[in-house]
Amino acid sequence: FRYKNTWPLCLEFLRSGKIDVKPLITHRFGFSQKEVEEAFETSARGGNAIKELFNPKPGDIFVCSFPKSGTTWLKALTFAIINRRGHDSSSNNPLLFKNPHECVFGLWVEHFDKIHQSGRVPLISTHAPYHSLPKSVLSLGSDHCKIVYICRDAKDTFVSTFFFVEKRRIKKDEAISLEQGFELFCQGKSWFGPIWDHILGYWKASLEQPNKVMFLKYEDIKKDSYFHVKKLAEFMGYSFSPQEEQAGIVQKIIDMCSFENLSGLEVNKIGKVVNPVNGYQVSSQDFFRKGKVGDWTNYLTPEMAERLDRIMEQKFRGSGLTF
Ligand code: A3P
Repeated sequence: FRYKNTWPLCLEFLRSGKIDVKPLITHRFGFSQKEVEEAFETSARGGNAIKELFNPKPGDIFVCSFPKSGTTWLKALTFAIINRRGHDSSSNNPLLFKNPHECVFGLWVEHFDKIHQSGRVPLISTHAPYHSLPKSVLSLGSDHCKIVYICRDAKDTFVSTFFFVEKRRIKKDEAISLEQGFELFCQGKSWFGPIWDHILGYWKASLEQPNKVMFLKYEDIKKDSYFHVKKLAEFMGYSFSPQEEQAGIVQKIIDMCSFENLSGLEVNKIGKVVNPVNGYQVSSQDFFRKGKVGDWTNYLTPEMAERLDRIMEQKFRGSGLTF
């Protein structure tokens, strides 16, 4: 299902507040054409509740990403930054006992009750492309809500996606090769649409509204975590004070949210994260694979790398965005 040309359907899932997506998701590997057609029809009838009706609270920050681009890391960092007062990074921080995906609510209809709770951490996450965000989020000013977006070299994103899907594939006989997956990825058949459209949507928005949309690259955060974590905190409106910096709080947050630390925590070794839409469980450890920049060199041939680089260059041409 994931590798078939069904990304518009995924978008409809996100947008729709009324369709019952459970049977579809549950049987995602066994769709007939008729079922898919019906799903499209149903979702069109159901309306786009999230897109039309969702209203963020003042101060909400949307944590957005293309899947397998560093979502887990960004969720951990934003959560740790916002939640730092009263939470020690070595003893009582929720990130030490919960997977980052359980600390930040996703923009799912199933989470609406939680999202509407008062006193919650003002973070909401989504993989939705920029143009599919709720209308309110797109139209409100930076004084009301903000967006932080993370992306990553498409080659690493592809490799990360491939292994994530392979590990969790239920019907092993439906496995596809890395080459087949790569072909589909290059055709733009991936979760939430073509990766280049996803990245460009947020990139352009960040140029047009720099106070509202922050555009981050996984590689940049890896290279200079201190600088980017400080910038991220500043952008979100949670700047570190000179006293905090002196006390080493920035570095403590970086260390707590590092791949090495999070992947080694008991909760992320044995825990499970439950998808609120279908109840499907993902082992926490599946969110942590290698956490390295450039791991694609171990899996893609130079020709494959060149092909994807060329596609990305063509798509980004004139945008000012480079990798
Ligand atoms: P790899 O598969 O290349 O190792 P997402 O969080 O969007 O699902 O992305 C998953 C990728 O981010 C995986 O990449 C995973 O290992 C990496 N990752 C998870 N937590 C991380 C962290 N704290 N720091 C850096 N990378 C992290």
